[in-house]
Amino acid sequence: MMHTHTANRKTAKETVTDYVLGYTDSEQERLIRQAAIIAPIAERFFREAGIGTGQRVLDLGSGMGDVTMLLARLVGPSGEIVGVERDANSIARAKARVRAAGLRNVNFLNTDVNNIVAKEPFDAVVGRFILMFLPDPVSVLRSVARLVRPSGVVAFQEPSWTAMLALGKRLPVWLRTRQLIHEILLRSGANREMGIALYRVFQNAGLPPPKMHLEMPLGNDVNFIRLTSDLLCSLRPLAKQHKVSLQDLGDLETLPDRICGEVAAANTVVSLIGVVGAWSRKSGRADSSDGEPAEAEGE
Ligand SMILES: C[S@@+](CC[C@H](N)C(=O)[O-])C[C@H]1O[C@@H](n2cnc3c(N)ncnc32)[C@H](O)[C@@H]1O
Repeated sequence: MMHTHTANRKTAKETVTDYVLGYTDSEQERLIRQAAIIAPIAERFFREAGIGTGQRVLDLGSGMGDVTMLLARLVGPSGEIVGVERDANSIARAKARVRAAGLRNVNFLNTDVNNIVAKEPFDAVVGRFILMFLPDPVSVLRSVARLVRPSGVVAFQEPSWTAMLALGKRLPVWLRTRQLIHEILLRSGANREMGIALYRVFQNAGLPPPKMHLEMPLGNDVNFIRLTSDLLCSLRPLAKQHKVSLQDLGDLETLPDRICGEVAAANTVVSLIGVVGAWSRKSGRADSSDGEPAEAEGE
């Protein structure tokens, strides 16, 4: 089923969509700013996974097109990136950004990741911060892996919150903010530990155990810290829906400044998110990703 979310755009402060983070303008700006910080990590990861010149790559949950454009530069004019996104407005914005960047090797499919049809096989399927939102990531991974040629690459970046929260011991306001975001995501069904779960998700989808690593961007300036309070703003409708009180945090307008103050006083840095990268290659056999799950699916 294809979804569009025209009614949920703009300043829909109290609107709940079936995608946890929603599609307000401010959420889309947050995604773009977050992507700029993660870009060096993403580029290293995709290069390590073997993505390069001339390849055809499928990008799941392309959003504002940041991963899509990074990949488009990696594969060059002889390659092609197909971004899959179910929100038509996000695709329109991503297309405009692709045009403005002068990239001609990008196409978008406006569909749900469960319903992708492709005539030709891809060299790789990738995605960032998408499997964490899916009710059945194993079945999606299994079906998209079938669109990849034998020996092709499957590479995903998903979050881990546990490592990030461990950094907040001396930062009560930052920690409380992150704990409340964590609680809202938990009650909304998003998997905050999808990064670590990728190890089993890959195998349950019939893929070889992935190579993995965890990286965390760190910082303490107001723009960096604002990404945390902006994420909270995107989640406010869900906080209300799931009855998570934000009262502990006081005035949300002054939250970024107060976090900056406590981080400066502690002379330290905070993390934006723990980014787990996991990648593996399909085996050379044509039916390699059609195998049975390695174990019961517990993700
Ligand atoms: C957190 S954003 C990540 C965007 C981009 N990958 C990035 O890292 O900047 C997740 C995106 O996945 C899209 N999405 C979520 N569920 C989807 C589904 N079932 N099919 C297609 N797109 C989906 C959302 O609309 C959103 O644009």
